[in-house]
Amino acid sequence: MQKTLLLKKLNKEATARPPVWFMRQAGRVLPSYNKIKENYSFREMMANPEIAADVTLLPIKDLGVDAAILFSDILVVPVAMGMELEWTANGPLFPTPLSNYLSPVDHLNTSPQKLEHIYQVIDEIIEKRDNSTPLIGFCGSPLTTMCYMLQGESRKHDFPEAVKFLYQNERESQKLIDAITELSVYYAQKQIEHGVDVFQLFETHAGLIPFELYQEFFIPAVEKISNAVRSKGTPFIYFPKGLGTGLKYVTPDLCDYVSIDWQMPLTDARQLVHSEVGLQGNIDPRLLYSSKERISKELEKYKSYFANNNNRWIMNLGHGFLPDIPFENAKFVVDWVKNSKWY
Ligand code: CP3
Repeated sequence: MQKTLLLKKLNKEATARPPVWFMRQAGRVLPSYNKIKENYSFREMMANPEIAADVTLLPIKDLGVDAAILFSDILVVPVAMGMELEWTANGPLFPTPLSNYLSPVDHLNTSPQKLEHIYQVIDEIIEKRDNSTPLIGFCGSPLTTMCYMLQGESRKHDFPEAVKFLYQNERESQKLIDAITELSVYYAQKQIEHGVDVFQLFETHAGLIPFELYQEFFIPAVEKISNAVRSKGTPFIYFPKGLGTGLKYVTPDLCDYVSIDWQMPLTDARQLVHSEVGLQGNIDPRLLYSSKERISKELEKYKSYFANNNNRWIMNLGHGFLPDIPFENAKFVVDWVKNSKWY
């Protein structure tokens, strides 16, 4: 693997421009992805190493981003823990959510072999990629993963049954967190053994509970996954959406980079986060619905940030692409980043 822009940045080196990639870049906004989707379901695409590898690499060709992210989903971990998952028009659904039970872990049946097909996807990507394309692996962080497992679906965005369960059954919740963390540690290390260059932990629902509760139950779990990744020499990016002022507890012990959501200006996040931790983000994905003039004006603001924090910033969104974002605006952002004079 060449030491490309993203890897240099993760190593806190100064570069002529920031690297750029997008959460949820593999799919949805790409016309080429939607074409493949005419013939295969999402589940079929994920399960087929050749197709999943091709989809992973599509945004490199079509958008020109500086990294590929594995085409899979965070919910493969609950499936490997024995849960049945359906992909419906309304998103993922676990027909038997764990909040139905008093002791959820007793109803799980973990078989790590169920993740094998994902390592085949990684092998295929490593074979097909240009060796200047770093590959980002990922999994869901324990709170986000647990929310889906307990609630069963995401239509209620505040996951009421999941949070109620956490408050009502602390001991059982802790057992579930431990079980998710254990498999995530194993899964992350296997991804690295198969060749991922960078690992990102998706904690989309960090803002769901008070920070102190998050700190008590979930930060130790994040630390375990982070240590497992970094013990292999792989950079670790943590995306705790909605963490807010909890960002002031994000230190180099926890992660190398933290991905900032769109709620907070990057300069404010910079003041909260420990100075040795790099920042990633934080364009509002919905900005990409607007005009090119508006997009350029917003992007322009990042220039002074880059001038002051060159060695510690990766450009990305503050959350994933939405399905109906125009492809040409996504491409516009990448071209803008590459063609702008950053100094
Ligand atoms: O970033 C990438 O492009 C890599 C692949 C990736 C997917 N999901 C593929 C996907 C990643 C990193 C994820 C993470 C994920 N999955 C998260 C955390 C990040 C976030 O966006 O909040 C969560 C919460 C999930 C669970 C999930 N998967 C939901 C709620 C849904 C349905 C709603 C939606 O956003 O589409 C999915 C489906 C999903 N995962 C799709 C893709 C490409 C859409 C499938 C399709 O094309 O219909």
